[in-house]
Amino acid sequence: MTNDDTMKDTAETAGRTGDDSLSSDGWERRYEAGETGWDRGETSPALLRWLDQNVLVPCRILVPGCGRGHEVIELASRGFDVTAIDFARTPVRELTHRLTQAGLIADVLRENVLCFATSDRFDAVYEQTSLCAIDPKHWMAYESRIFSNLKHGGQLFAVLMQSSKQQGPPFHCDPKRIKKVFHPSRWAWPRESFTIDHPVGMHEVAVVLTKLEK
Ligand SMILES: C[S@@+](CC[C@H](N)C(=O)[O-])C[C@H]1O[C@@H](n2cnc3c(N)ncnc32)[C@H](O)[C@@H]1O
Repeated sequence: MTNDDTMKDTAETAGRTGDDSLSSDGWERRYEAGETGWDRGETSPALLRWLDQNVLVPCRILVPGCGRGHEVIELASRGFDVTAIDFARTPVRELTHRLTQAGLIADVLRENVLCFATSDRFDAVYEQTSLCAIDPKHWMAYESRIFSNLKHGGQLFAVLMQSSKQQGPPFHCDPKRIKKVFHPSRWAWPRESFTIDHPVGMHEVAVVLTKLEK
């Protein structure tokens, strides 16, 4: 577990996308100003449904763009081996503290999801309101990172924000568009998906993709 504010200068610089509001500094400012309307304050019902139905069972799992990480705490408490990443200082610090207070263990890293790479690949990824926080021009790079960091046959549990707006964040994650990024040549798409409401007045589409053998 790490929470060293000084060691991740790479996260600061790599997070600069040209739009400062989408850089690590931009996201940090939202946390400092308390502008975190995306944060439910509790575990997403989509994750609880997958857990309670044993669709997602304890494994090595990555949570990109974890924010305050209510889902990270839920997963760690249920015996998952969790790695959570976010490039903003405040959520990483707060999540690390909450895990310690709860006597739970997870790796919480201050990293840029667009640069994150590991040789110890994950069984699953839990994606919630992370893709919609990233400029769509980087979505192919995001897909590439998720793909590379998953084992063959690994699963992406995706909760996709439907904002129906041109601008973001949150950028609209229209499933048809997402299917072009997470292409069926690389990912098996199921017939089933479900929808959940989000407190900001939007809704999310929850779907489980499986990485195809390559
Ligand atoms: C909309 S918030 C969602 C947080 C959390 N997933 C949730 O649902 O509460 C997006 C999060 O992604 C982080 N983030 C955005 N771009 C990132 C990047 N390139 N690398 C790492 N974290 C990023 C932000 O700092 C922020 O905490």
